[in-house]
Amino acid sequence: MTEQLPTGTNLDPWFDHYAERAAGLRASEVRALFAVASRPEVVSLAGGMPFVSALPEDLVQGSIDEVMRTEGPVALQYGSGQGFPRLREQILDVMALEGIRANADDIVVTTGSQHALELVSKLFLDPGDVVLAEGPSYVTAMVIFRSYQADVDHVPMDEHGLIPEALREHIAALRSQGRTIKLLYTIPSFHNPAGVTLSWERRLEILQIARENDILVLEDNPYGLLYFDRPAPDALRSVEEEGVIYLGTFSKTLAPGFRVGWALAPHAIREKLVLANEAAILCPSSFSQLVISKYLETADWKGQINTFRGVYHERKNAMISALEEHLPEFSWTNPHGGFYVWVTMPEPLDSKAMLPRAVKELVAFTPGTAFYGDGGGRQNLRLSFCYPTSDQIRLGVRRLANVVRGELDLLETFAGTGSLTDTGAHRFTTPTDMA
Ligand SMILES: Cc1ncc(COP(=O)(O)O)c(C=O)c1O
Repeated sequence: MTEQLPTGTNLDPWFDHYAERAAGLRASEVRALFAVASRPEVVSLAGGMPFVSALPEDLVQGSIDEVMRTEGPVALQYGSGQGFPRLREQILDVMALEGIRANADDIVVTTGSQHALELVSKLFLDPGDVVLAEGPSYVTAMVIFRSYQADVDHVPMDEHGLIPEALREHIAALRSQGRTIKLLYTIPSFHNPAGVTLSWERRLEILQIARENDILVLEDNPYGLLYFDRPAPDALRSVEEEGVIYLGTFSKTLAPGFRVGWALAPHAIREKLVLANEAAILCPSSFSQLVISKYLETADWKGQINTFRGVYHERKNAMISALEEHLPEFSWTNPHGGFYVWVTMPEPLDSKAMLPRAVKELVAFTPGTAFYGDGGGRQNLRLSFCYPTSDQIRLGVRRLANVVRGELDLLETFAGTGSLTDTGAHRFTTPTDMA
């Protein structure tokens, strides 16, 4: 009998046993740093956590109490795989604010929109398929796509969102290589991480391109209602019913702790989504659904969203004016809603290399590389203004500017690169450079 040699690694004896798709589930390279960055003395401009302290705690508590008092046994029981009909009807009212008319029967309630992304990927992606996505794109959607062994192809954006002409070119190039394009994943309003919003004209053009090329659009819209001065254009789904799966969530307009989101899908896809939902989790949380339903019924939820808009608008303004004051050599997007500013740095700077020094100087950001699957984004960083107060934001940007100066000094010393302000040669003038 031959001796059985140990395989795997020292750290994980089951290393050789994983399915191939598990290779797509990689921890972000900056994850360890973020553990440090969550210390209270660090100003974190990194995370996308909504400012839940602005919620009317008594109304949320009231909804919980009322649900337990009147519907306790239902709230504590399994529910349907599609979600409670009452909540699905209320979700129609939420989506109507962005021009969507639909049938409650075409909605599937999920455990956050993250879970809807997982279900859609499970239904549509085979190994080697391509998902078209904006460049940059939402990091954890890309993790899911890769975990189904699909490739993400980044289509460039500018300050008006995804560029239709670039989309046409990417589709043609991929098709000429014999690749199968399964989805166009897009975050049209107040994009994560780019902060930009797809214009109405482009929405129509992109839908037309998707139609012509028989590509299903996956519209992810967590931030659409969180506008500052003017609403985003209506959702893609408001125009096109059959070619769009729309994802919504209560995470940003209410609270992520409930973990309730939804998918609105063409009827045939909806049936498959329900089956996939049941296979994955049996049913979404009955308790969370009923509490949210009660909240929507009893609280001024539109007024509350307005309160959030005011908080985030003020913080965004604080961030933009701090950037203007402390980092005038940088360029950035100036969002009209959502949580994020996308910053472009001049040439010699590398956001990933800069992060450890930043955390040491007690400020954290997300390096641009996290939002590309292809190594892009080194000259970019994402700054979030959703969670820290305006004073913390100003302090954080001041610290960031110090880090940048230190980094430039270092680069100058070791590479003789010449200073940033001397030449202006590395300046970016428009946010389109983020592509
Ligand atoms: C673009 C985008 N999609 C999906 C999600 C996931 O949200 P949820 O809490 O609904 O799962 C997020 C969260 O930050 C997001 O930014």
